Amino acid sequence: MATRSALINVMHKAATAASRGMLRDFGEVENLQVSRKGPADFVSRADTTAERVIKSELLKARPDWGFMMEESGTIIGADPDAPVWIVDPLDGTTNFLHGIPHFAISIAVKDKGKITAGLVFDPLRHEYFFAEAGQGAYINDRRLRVSGRRQMAESLFATGIPFLGHGDAEAHARFGKELYRIMGVSSGVRRFGSAALDLAYVAAGRYDGFWERGLQSWDIAAGILLVREAGGFVSDFASRDRALDSGDIVAANPAIHAELLKCLNAATQD
Ligand code: 2AM
Ligand code: CA
Repeated sequence: MATRSALINVMHKAATAASRGMLRDFGEVENLQVSRKGPADFVSRADTTAERVIKSELLKARPDWGFMMEESGTIIGADPDAPVWIVDPLDGTTNFLHGIPHFAISIAVKDKGKITAGLVFDPLRHEYFFAEAGQGAYINDRRLRVSGRRQMAESLFATGIPFLGHGDAEAHARFGKELYRIMGVSSGVRRFGSAALDLAYVAAGRYDGFWERGLQSWDIAAGILLVREAGGFVSDFASRDRALDSGDIVAANPAIHAELLKCLNAATQD
């Protein structure tokens, strides 16, 4: 992997170290699906252990940097002006809990307000998606490029369905309208349950676009950089560069992005 910088190596090492325990716990969850003892204990153990392992690996390599993590929240670094790690130790928790083999570790670097590096690791498929600002996006040792599809009718989209306890009835109804509109004009819509992997798949040209609302910055920080470095566009629903802060995100290849936004906005005006 000639293109991997020292920084990406640090992220790669932390994600790999965290994945070992996670895969062991996932094996337990798979075994427990049919037993009475719930798998929830293994899920929260996987989550917290992965976060601890990632934090200690990253701290070893960059002792002054801060953290924004799903489980432990914001930790100010020894040097408050230094970059901050944005970490989701286990994206796709619901899949993990149900023994569905689709989840990832997401690690990003935010430096002076900008995401400068990102890595999304799918430990079951051994796929490392990574990018650095201005350096392109990669899967393992191969350069990534968003898809070249130009028509909605031939495009495949990913989305996230608002879950119980997230958003009100109006937000759920709005999602229904968006889905109805996109399913009517596209070649299909998928809902796989990991926003980090959804974005990595847009970067890889597997999906032509992705939309979801109400996400957290750790779900999407690495993925946003992956899509942009693979030549894609990322915005909020008003076409502004505010996806990371708002958690409302529309990502797609450059030929489809404007049309996807138009369809989503038209859907909710009916
Ligand atoms: P998580 O697996 O780390 O929770 C899927 O729609 C996206 O929403 C995932 O990236 C998922 O991240 C996030 N999400 C946050 N809270 C969730 C919840 N209670 N149920 C399902 N997805 C959730
Ligand atoms: Ca997440």
